[in-house]
Amino acid sequence: MGLRVLVTGGAGFLGSHLCEKLLQQGHDVLCVDNYFTGSKDNILHLLDHPRFEVIRHDVTFPLYVEVDRIYNLACPASPIHYQFDPVQTTKTSVHGAINMLGLAKRVKARILQASTSEVYGDPEVHPQTEDYWGRVNPIGIRSCYDEGKRCAETLFFDYWRQHQLEIKVVRIFNTYGPRMHPNDGRVVSNFIVQALKGQDITIYGDGMQTRSFCYVNDLIDAMMRMMESRVDFTGPVNIGNSGEYTMRQLAAVVIKLTGSKSQLIFKPIPQDDPKQRRPDISLAKKELNWSPTIPLEEGLNDTIQYFKDRI
Ligand SMILES: NC(=O)c1ccc[n+]([C@@H]2O[C@H](COP(=O)([O-])OP(=O)(O)OC[C@H]3O[C@@H](n4cnc5c(N)ncnc54)[C@H](O)[C@@H]3O)[C@@H](O)[C@H]2O)c1
Repeated sequence: MGLRVLVTGGAGFLGSHLCEKLLQQGHDVLCVDNYFTGSKDNILHLLDHPRFEVIRHDVTFPLYVEVDRIYNLACPASPIHYQFDPVQTTKTSVHGAINMLGLAKRVKARILQASTSEVYGDPEVHPQTEDYWGRVNPIGIRSCYDEGKRCAETLFFDYWRQHQLEIKVVRIFNTYGPRMHPNDGRVVSNFIVQALKGQDITIYGDGMQTRSFCYVNDLIDAMMRMMESRVDFTGPVNIGNSGEYTMRQLAAVVIKLTGSKSQLIFKPIPQDDPKQRRPDISLAKKELNWSPTIPLEEGLNDTIQYFKDRI
């Protein structure tokens, strides 16, 4: 039977894919977004759907709606956007979590938090497992996002211990795919846009820092499995792709797939930029019976096509 599902940040990159998938599965979907980084274009194709509703709302203010499930995704996700108004970023994570947890408690909804690998900061252990507490700078320029997300996790676990709320926490690692923002400084979109425009591809530092990249469809599948996992499995659980690539390798693949003539240029590395980032996804494999299925080149091809249509 279809559930009533609230998706905060539903007009964003991940949120719009999630809304789409939930509708396909027969649920009623309520998308809440203040369009800070999301856009109506991302959900335009869903607006005529009889089971889809949208509310323009800022999650730092309370919301009263009757729902069975809450996916809490509202939060700018890229440094350019979350550093634009850092106080609002912390408020979105912290007040947003308080408001959504309060709602979940009131209507007895199950609630999932879109947390992030950034809670691990610049980690000393590789790959990161969920029991690693992280190494986060509390006063740096990334802290509004990292600490905001950490505090949101704290709130989720306190609501679980104190109020027996059904909580789910996923720690998302770099995800890419159609509907990413073209200019938000994230590496996959940066490289693709630069390659398609024939511009130089910007690498920060020596390009030997690594990241792992998960295709959006794989990520959404894991998030939905997590939401419907057994009640006593709260997470946190890492979701991502454990294939690890240096920035130089990623640039080479993008250049190959776009057939671009772009050259690499090197710029100084930004403050607190992690040197290495790779999820250990053993827990997700075990508890959710999930692992990513879409190879990097296949996902990149779809993403390149999306940007080609828009440039
Ligand atoms: N994409 C990734 O690789 C990644 C990695 C780790 C975590 N996450 C998390 O997943 C979630 C979604 O990320 P995304 O990549 O889709 O980013 P996004 O910026 O595309 O989506 C975030 C959405 O939240 C909305 N929003 C922001 N502040 C709001 C507020 N105060 N009230 C209501 N809506 C608000 C934005 O308008 C946007 O639609 C975020 O919480 C992010 O931290 C994403």
